[in-house]
Amino acid sequence: MTRKIFLFITGCVLLTVLPNLTAQTNEARLFVDASREEVQINKNIYGHFAEHLGGCIYGGIWVGPESDIPNTRGIRKDVVNALKELNIPVLRWPGGCFADTYHSRDGIGPRDQRPDRINTFWGDVIESNHFGTHEFMDLIEQLGTEAYFAGNVGSGSPQEMHDWVEYLTYPGESTLANLRRENGQSQPWDIPFWGVGNENWGCGGNMTAEFYAYLYRQFATYVMDYGDNNIYKVAGGAGSSNYHWTETLMREAGNHMDGLSLHYYTLPGDWSNKGPALGFDENAWFTTLRKALDIDDVLARHIAIMDQYDPGQRVGLMVDEWGTWYDPMEGTNPAFLKQQNSLRDALVAGLTLNIFHDHAERVRMANIAQTVNVLQAMIHTDGPDMFVTPTYHVFEMYKVHQDAMRLAYHLDSPEYQFGDNSITSVNVSATKNSNGVIHISLCNLNPNEAVTLEAEVRGINNKRLAGRVLTANSMDAHNNFKQKNRVAPAEFDNLKSTRDGFSATLPPKSVVVIEIR
Ligand code: AHR
Repeated sequence: MTRKIFLFITGCVLLTVLPNLTAQTNEARLFVDASREEVQINKNIYGHFAEHLGGCIYGGIWVGPESDIPNTRGIRKDVVNALKELNIPVLRWPGGCFADTYHSRDGIGPRDQRPDRINTFWGDVIESNHFGTHEFMDLIEQLGTEAYFAGNVGSGSPQEMHDWVEYLTYPGESTLANLRRENGQSQPWDIPFWGVGNENWGCGGNMTAEFYAYLYRQFATYVMDYGDNNIYKVAGGAGSSNYHWTETLMREAGNHMDGLSLHYYTLPGDWSNKGPALGFDENAWFTTLRKALDIDDVLARHIAIMDQYDPGQRVGLMVDEWGTWYDPMEGTNPAFLKQQNSLRDALVAGLTLNIFHDHAERVRMANIAQTVNVLQAMIHTDGPDMFVTPTYHVFEMYKVHQDAMRLAYHLDSPEYQFGDNSITSVNVSATKNSNGVIHISLCNLNPNEAVTLEAEVRGINNKRLAGRVLTANSMDAHNNFKQKNRVAPAEFDNLKSTRDGFSATLPPKSVVVIEIR
C-alpha cells in the first residue's frame, strides 16, 4: 500500500471514530503508527553551509593562530564548541557564488605567501586566502563532520577541479599528493561529497540548462575516485521553481550524477525589498511562514520530474542552500548579508525540517545558509563575543531525528487564518531511532492561539514522556549580545499521558519536540 493510500485510509478511519472538529476549535488530532517505519531520515538533512562571505569564515570561524580570541590553529574555540552540540553531519564550502571564483591553489602553502584576491560577489573585499583547504579540513576534523566541497565550473577548468581532488585524496606518490604532504597532510583525506559548480544559471556562469548539463558531464568525468575514496557527485541544481533546469539536467546528465542540488530561500517580500528581520507585523509573519511552507510543493514537483527519469530513486535531491533572507542589518555592509534571527526563523527551520522528512525518500541532504553571521545563521559573533540564535536551538532540539526512521502519521490540524488567507496551524514529523525512542517535532505557526493536541500513538506499550519547547512572547523575539538567552528551549510540561498516546497544549508560535520511550 502506498504511503498516500495508507494515510488516506488511516485519516478516514480516524475521522469517523473521532468527533468531528471544526477549524475554529484550535484542536488538532495526530495519529502516529509507531510500527510503520517508512524511510530513514538521512542525517545529512541536518547539514550546514559556510561561504567566504561577510563574517562567516573570517571573524566567525577563522581568527588566525595569533589572535587573542581563543582558537585551535586559528579556528575559534567558542564557535566550534557551540557547533559541536548540533552534531553537524556535513559542511558545504567554500561557496555559494564564491565557489565559482575560487582557485584552490590560492589557499595552500605558507599563509603569508598566499595571494590576495578580490571577493567579487561579496563586497569586493580582499580575500587573504588564509582559510584554505587545510584550514577547512582542520575545521571538519574539529567538528567531527564530513566535507562537501563546491568546485569551480564558472571560471575554472576540468583540469583544475581534477587537480584539487587529486591533491586532497590521492594516496600514492604524485606531484600534487606530495605537495599536500609538504603542506602538512601526509594521509589523503576522505572527501565524500563534491559539488560540480553552484547556481550555474546565475552567479556560476549565467548558463542555460542545456549548456550546463554538458559542462557538468565534462567536469564530473575528472572528479576521480582515488584509493578508497568514493565521491558522491552533485550537479548544480535549480533555484526554487525552475523545473526546466531539473528536467534538463535529469534528461541530459542524470546518469552521470549521484545528487542534484536545489536552492530555496524564503523572503517575506521580493528580491528588491525583502523585508526586515525584526520589527515586522503579523502580515510579514504569516507571509514568511506561508512561503516557507511552499517548499513542500516545490520539492514534490522537482521530485516528480526526477521520478520520471530515475524511478529507482538513485539520484538524491540535495537542498544545499535554504533559509530566510531579509534586508541587511542596519549599519552593516549590505554585501555581507548579516541579519538578525528571531522566533520566526525558528518556526521556518522547524517546519522546513519536518517537510524535508516528508520527502526523505529523495531528499538526502540539506545545508542551511549559513553557519555564522550570514543569513539564517546559527551563531552571531562580534570580536571575542558570540551568541546562538533561535535557529540554532531548533537544530539542537531536532538532532534526535538524525538517521532515525520516519513513522507514518496523519494530522488533522486547525487552520491559522490571517485576513482572507489561511495555512495549517500545526506542522509535524515523527521518527523512531535505533533504540526504539520516538520523537515527534511539532510547530504551532499561529502566533496568537494555542493548539490543543490529542495524539494517538499506535504500537507502543509502556511509555515515558518528556518534551522541550522553544517559544517567546513576541513574534520577533531574538537573542543578542546583551541578552543571549531570551529565546532558549525550556522543559515542556503541557504534556499528559493518555490511554492511547498523549495530549499536549502547543503554545502560540512554538516549536515542540516530544520524546516517547
Ligand atoms: O547564500 C548566499 C548566496 O545565495 C550564495 O552564495 C548563492 O549560491 C545564493 O544565491
